[in-house]
Amino acid sequence: MLKIFTGSANPALAGGIARNLGVSLGHIQINRFPDGEIAVKIDDNIRGKDVFIIQPTCYPPNEHVMELLIVIDAMRRASAARITAVMPFYGYARQDRKDQPRVPITAKLVANLLVAAGTSRLLAMDFHAQQIQGFFDIPVDHLCATPVIVKYLREKSLADPVVVSPDPGGMKMAYQYSRLLNSGLAIVAKQRISPTEVESYNLVGNVKDKTCILVDDLITTGGTLCAAAKLLQAAGARNILAAVTHAVFIPAAYERLKQSAIQEFVVTDSVPLKMPPNTLPVHILSVADLFAEAIRRIHNNQSVSSLFNI
Ligand code: R5P
Repeated sequence: MLKIFTGSANPALAGGIARNLGVSLGHIQINRFPDGEIAVKIDDNIRGKDVFIIQPTCYPPNEHVMELLIVIDAMRRASAARITAVMPFYGYARQDRKDQPRVPITAKLVANLLVAAGTSRLLAMDFHAQQIQGFFDIPVDHLCATPVIVKYLREKSLADPVVVSPDPGGMKMAYQYSRLLNSGLAIVAKQRISPTEVESYNLVGNVKDKTCILVDDLITTGGTLCAAAKLLQAAGARNILAAVTHAVFIPAAYERLKQSAIQEFVVTDSVPLKMPPNTLPVHILSVADLFAEAIRRIHNNQSVSSLFNI
């Protein structure tokens, strides 16, 4: 039997997933002890059940990671038959390699912690780098927001679209979008100067008089998109849109992005958007149905990859 629980990171998305599945969210208490430690109690009997815990590790990431680990520990000790961590956004994913001496690989550390806590399998979406799947020796189902975002973009019937990757790392994702949208493809060369500053110094591809769709896995400071949009504008782009899976905006990003030439931000609800209303022209697409279908298939031992036939 299937049981769905939510942590405190994105209860709205979890509610949408549960509604689609026709089940109620499981009862769980997540509180704080007076000293700030996380206190968890699962109120439902989950002995022998196929249990899913929905928790993107978005802001504040440390709280949400720790909470997830503690919930999984409680589930294991409550004799759940199988525990699937459903992470619509996998935080710490950008720390996926030693790119300088004496730095950690925190994406791998989080993977180790999840498995040590008792995770049986992982369901996630648009990892920053697909190789993160290899950080786990348990089954990983990796969803893409592409079907949801492409459907919306197709409905807009954009004039002369070109998909643009704002950095070389996003090329594979951009290529996939461009094939599905039957559009041109361009790429921006980017250099990160600091966690908040980015320099985009070259554009490969023709964007003159075209509708540019910047695609990326996440927005945090907005530096990447602003720098890319500046180059596109200088190269004669007619319109610029951004299609980004995880809207992990930090508040300082709003002002910066407001000044950019980007006319619309298409994002998903993988993380809750805490932006004040009318701050930016953001269109939010729900991935609840996509996750619900994946959960249904995992529970029924059916193929998840066939979800991507679009
Ligand atoms: C980088 O490789 C990622 O795909 C994003 O482009 C980047 O992390 C976005 O961060 P920010 O909005 O701070 O530039």
